[in-house]
Amino acid sequence: MAEESQKWVLMVTAQTPTNIAVIKYWGKRDETLILPVNDSISVTLDPEHLCTTTTVSVSPAFDQDRMWLNGKEISLSGGRFQSCLREIRSRATDVHDKEKGIKITKKDWEKLNVHIASYNNFPTAAGLASSAAGFACLVFALAKLMNANEDHSQLSAIARRGSGSACRSLYGGFVKWIMGKDEKGTDSLAVQLADEKHWDELVIVIAVVSSQQKETSSTTGMRDTVETSLLLQHRAKEVVPKRILKMEEAIKNRDFASFAQLACTDSNQFHAVCLDTCPPIFYMNDTSHRIISLVEKWNCAAGTPQVAYTFDAGPNAVLIARNRETAALLVQKLLFCFPPKSDADLNSFVLGDKSILKDAGVESLEAIESLPAPPEIKDPSQRHRGDVSYFICTRPGRGPVVLSDESQFLLNPETGLPK
Ligand code: DP6
Repeated sequence: MAEESQKWVLMVTAQTPTNIAVIKYWGKRDETLILPVNDSISVTLDPEHLCTTTTVSVSPAFDQDRMWLNGKEISLSGGRFQSCLREIRSRATDVHDKEKGIKITKKDWEKLNVHIASYNNFPTAAGLASSAAGFACLVFALAKLMNANEDHSQLSAIARRGSGSACRSLYGGFVKWIMGKDEKGTDSLAVQLADEKHWDELVIVIAVVSSQQKETSSTTGMRDTVETSLLLQHRAKEVVPKRILKMEEAIKNRDFASFAQLACTDSNQFHAVCLDTCPPIFYMNDTSHRIISLVEKWNCAAGTPQVAYTFDAGPNAVLIARNRETAALLVQKLLFCFPPKSDADLNSFVLGDKSILKDAGVESLEAIESLPAPPEIKDPSQRHRGDVSYFICTRPGRGPVVLSDESQFLLNPETGLPK
């Protein structure tokens, strides 16, 4: 380490997407190593609309590892953070920054402390897989900083130690988390099935459902399921392996009918397994059920699936439309059923790719009020105003990237403290 420069700070900033599983991960065979009971498949969401940005920095002046999430300092003492930090540190190699005259050897990394600042461009509390993007970004950024020459799959196995679903955020497009067989988990990692350009017609609409209910975390929920549900054993052994093969085929052939049928049934089975848990876990609510019913009726009437739905450990619906035209129709139907509260502003009711509103012909609150009732609705006089807090329109997106624009760094380049 260069002597004279006890003040130097070296940093890397990265941006990592979140992902939504279309074949779900639910249940661990090893809690500490985070090894799942089945393979899973996900779609990476466009980081322009949903992502985590993380700046990691190192300096001999730092006296301990510290982290700030959305501006607030959080503890790094948890086992999951510690596993990720330890695994990455052990893979660190020599770093030589000629411009700054900094030399860090493999050995130095054991003693040096890091500062980490992370920011989600979407509400953390909305239950939108923030830990997936978060741990993936932490591991990816640290690997760059410490010059750990692992490929994305090897990094995914480290991100997995932070949160299982995080391993799938190391790639864009369509991703499979292979459960692996090894007891130590070396072969439990993510691989890319297809990149984001492979099936770029798909449009994803997320309905963030209002809920006062405190949800059971995925970690505790799946622990209870593993301990009590016989249905989970059947799912993991008999159902998912076949579904994974079919889903891979559907993605390869861009076969929307098969993709939608598999994604919807798998989401429903995941929630059935939650219900089969003792005590039962309810993640979906009446609004979630109304959305399922709307999509099911529409798909049935159309004769072939137009939209797929999937729900994680919460009431929010993730809807995947076969193309832009279908997505515009979907938005019309959703806005009819779940209009905003009267004091709302359309700009904060539909987030992400707002151009969908133009395609749907709803560019004002008045336009929402005069939408025609969708034929799927039994009682068109009943509109569930305010039951959806907001919508986010997005698409399949790319994997992690390093950001070089200093204005996007979350830590001050001189002090290594939050800006
Ligand atoms: C329903 O990855 O959040 O979203 O590994 O305990 O951190 P831990 O759980 P987490 O679980 C995600 C569960 C899910 C399904 C999925 O993403 O595959």
